[in-house]
Amino acid sequence: MKDQLNNIKIQAEKELTSITSIQELENLRVKYLGKKGELTSVLRGMGALSAEERPVTGQLANEIRAFLENRIDSARDELVKNERGLKLEKEVIDVTIPGKRKMLGRKHPLTIALDEIKDVFLGMGYEIAEGPEIELDYYNFEALNIPKNHPARDVQDTFYINDNIVLRTQTSPVQIRVMESKKPPIKIICPGRVYRSDEVDATHSPIFHQVEGLVVDKGVTMGDLIGTLQVFAKALFGENSKIRLRPHHFPFTEPSAEVDVSCWSCGGTGCRVCKNEGWIEILGAGMVHPKVLETCGIDPEVYSGFAFGLGVERTAMGRLNIDDMRLLYENDIRFLKQF
Ligand code: DAH
Repeated sequence: MKDQLNNIKIQAEKELTSITSIQELENLRVKYLGKKGELTSVLRGMGALSAEERPVTGQLANEIRAFLENRIDSARDELVKNERGLKLEKEVIDVTIPGKRKMLGRKHPLTIALDEIKDVFLGMGYEIAEGPEIELDYYNFEALNIPKNHPARDVQDTFYINDNIVLRTQTSPVQIRVMESKKPPIKIICPGRVYRSDEVDATHSPIFHQVEGLVVDKGVTMGDLIGTLQVFAKALFGENSKIRLRPHHFPFTEPSAEVDVSCWSCGGTGCRVCKNEGWIEILGAGMVHPKVLETCGIDPEVYSGFAFGLGVERTAMGRLNIDDMRLLYENDIRFLKQF
């Protein structure tokens, strides 16, 4: 029986050396020291021993149990220490690693210009109106007094969906839609995208943006139009900006004018930006044609109005010193980052 006990000790010690986890250690403890373990089952045979042998064997068994318990405890300590060490090692946070910077977007130059334009007119009490980009020929042309044979209808300029439907070539059709749905006083701007079948170059794009303006009320005059445009020019291009009206023809206004602003680069003395003109064209404007008012059921004998349509790209390029329109559409971060 002594041999059996000593064998258990040797066997258990040997197995202890290859234990790598707490679970394995626990299995080993149960195998040797548990209620149904090997040591216990040997001790169960003690009854067969003689009266002299029994205490000696019992003592040996207790010594071996104490020895193994001791060894198992220290092995457990060791394992716990190692596992915690590994865990700490795995979870260590290196506070010196550089953080991940979140990219913060910013406004596109067209949005910057558009927001400034809106600010100016909202400040003067205008409301914002909208209309569809896919528009009826009636609104884009007919109701604006643009007859069937007008060059603006040339397929060169207009994207036709079919005979009656076009991609709007201007934001002016919104004038008609507003006047149809609302009686004067009317005071709106309509920012929006427009389409023309133009070749892309430094100053042209088949898709661009306009802001339409329309004021209709009793006693609205050309003086109101000029004053309004002056406020706009000063707000966007600086206190010293001036405007100039050149007589022009638009079918939906009479009289009509093209409006220039004094060059934002040289102030009017002449430079590369204004091609030595001192002036840069930014919009078309005029007094709403009586025929257009009539078409919308507004009596031209009672009411009058002015309208204007300005190019957002032009304005953005002037306001932000951009010399090629294509830059506005290429989405090159290096360009966009500058504003
Ligand atoms: N719709 C014109 C264009 O795209 C611009 C324009 C001129 C708008 C005169 C107006 C206006 O409202 O009165 O060329």
